[in-house]
Amino acid sequence: MFEIKVRDGLARIGILRTKHGVINTPTILPVINPHFIPIHPNEMLQMGAEAVITNSYIIYNDEELRKKALKEGLHALLNFNKPIMTDSGSFQMYMYGIEIDAIEIVKFQRSIGSDIGTILDIFSEEESYDKIKEEVEKTIERAKESMKERGDMLLACTVQGGIYKDLRRYCAKQLAKLRSDIYPVGGVVPLMEKQRYAEIAEIIIASKKELPPSKPVHLFGAGHPIIFPLAVALGCDLFDSASYIKYAKDERLIFSDKTLRLKEMDELPCCCPVCSKFGIDDLREMDREERVVKIAYHNLWQTFAEIKKIRQAIRHGNLWELVEQRATAHPSLMDAMEVIKNEKKWLEKWENISKKRAFMYTSRYSIHRPIVYRLQKRILERYEPFFEKSIIFGEMEKPYSRNEWMKKIEANCIIESCFGPVPLELDEIYPVAQSIFPSSMDVEAEKEVRKTCNKFYKKLKIVDFSAVKKGSKDFDIRKIKSIANYQFGKGAGEALFSGKIEIIKSKTTGKIRNVICDGKHVVSMRAPDGFFSLKAEGGKRLHAFFSPPKMRVVVTDDAIPFIKEGKNVFAKFVIDACKELRPYDEALIVSKDDELIAVGQCLLNRDEMLDFERGIAVKTREVIK
Ligand code: GUN
Ligand code: ZN
Repeated sequence: MFEIKVRDGLARIGILRTKHGVINTPTILPVINPHFIPIHPNEMLQMGAEAVITNSYIIYNDEELRKKALKEGLHALLNFNKPIMTDSGSFQMYMYGIEIDAIEIVKFQRSIGSDIGTILDIFSEEESYDKIKEEVEKTIERAKESMKERGDMLLACTVQGGIYKDLRRYCAKQLAKLRSDIYPVGGVVPLMEKQRYAEIAEIIIASKKELPPSKPVHLFGAGHPIIFPLAVALGCDLFDSASYIKYAKDERLIFSDKTLRLKEMDELPCCCPVCSKFGIDDLREMDREERVVKIAYHNLWQTFAEIKKIRQAIRHGNLWELVEQRATAHPSLMDAMEVIKNEKKWLEKWENISKKRAFMYTSRYSIHRPIVYRLQKRILERYEPFFEKSIIFGEMEKPYSRNEWMKKIEANCIIESCFGPVPLELDEIYPVAQSIFPSSMDVEAEKEVRKTCNKFYKKLKIVDFSAVKKGSKDFDIRKIKSIANYQFGKGAGEALFSGKIEIIKSKTTGKIRNVICDGKHVVSMRAPDGFFSLKAEGGKRLHAFFSPPKMRVVVTDDAIPFIKEGKNVFAKFVIDACKELRPYDEALIVSKDDELIAVGQCLLNRDEMLDFERGIAVKTREVIK
């Protein structure tokens, strides 16, 4: 079973439980060939390995190995006590045309005690649509039959479908119904080898759109770290790789952004234990066999270093930066970015409300990140002007509202920022205040910004600076109302803040901290991202104002007593939720009859809440008394 701990959009740090312990994801499972083990799996643990993968067909096909595995088990065979995944031989069938019985090999994986087995999916060549469709049907049929044989082994049901997006979606949709444990995306090895990253991105996206969000996704046969950040950002949790040894045999060194032949290198630009101990000449002078093993070590260290970098980026919420940095490593990765650019709407569904780190403009793709799409969309849809007239300002130092005179203008002040139009009142929300841009952007970004500005200005009456008065005193009220509208929806500002409004500010920073209405604490403002945390009173007001399902997370009756004690809402107790809720959004926790129980912060969106069987869906903040 799989559980999310931290996320950055579709990318997640998760825990997958197996019979031999947990696998922390995202991670890569090094491929172990039972006939040749130059680096023992136990040694891989120090590099960061969580689990390994081996091929059950190789064991099955070798009498000695088969007997030993059946008698003593797979873990004894490999002398490894951590999780082991097994593949089925699909790839060998595709490469060498060998014959394997689909059900027999699943039963065999179970008999030898594999933690995660794999169905014998059909690896499609680049063939006609009809041929691949036929093969997809066969894969689905085999998955159904294999599910009956899995016992206590976790089963991976591979999505196939070649480069046809609709076949991928169809295959994923059918396999999703089986509710197996892991969903690999298969058939990408030839695309990886030819660096056809745009098609790989399309395949992952098509599959992910239909796969259950609560299940880990494995990208089969993608072992070069160059693809990891992108694949993780699209929702892949697991990788496997024989590349570390395959490349070593070719005397090629893997780096996060490239591969270099030892022959062509003059220095070792790496500080892994191998490269720290040996110079390039030492490597060259070694026996070939020793050299290959040393390079394999280096390759694994580099591979795991990239995994660690990705996990750190997920925790900081800046994985897109890493994806964009890697995109410069190969023009084909830029082609993949073009594919991703068109998926903003879908990506936004999974995107966090805010991140721990500032938005750093990294490349011409930065303006297409889902968080920017969210910002522009919400401003277009949720902003309510206070004045009849509006004035436009150019980009300026942040936060914009440090310019006291702007707050007094009796017109809506709109700043044409690098993100697009930003009303002055929203200058402290994420990512507006927490962003760093170069002094000039690329042409594409500027065009994108222009487009949004023009769309936004159509709704406003734009006037000249000289045509407005300068006596307005209620900027703070406008500010809290605008943030509420942006964060919760149109009308939320009026609904939350009525009666005698008291705004409490920090003595040190002067920033808004709490808002009290008629003596009741309605919201607190979070210093890092400029958004509100709802207090019980705020929840009551929004609950009265918005009709269901808006902002709601509906829980089962038996969960209510626990939530009333202040316990968090676990996903398995969620019956329904508002489609507009996003990770880290504020939510109203209600009963089936829409009785307000508590307010809290979501960790999941609706699709995830309804799909996950484990983990927290909403962190309860305050119970309604
Ligand atoms: N190894 C590399 N690609 C694949 C695939 O598509 N299916 C399976 N089962 N194993 C693989
Ligand atoms: Zn190294």
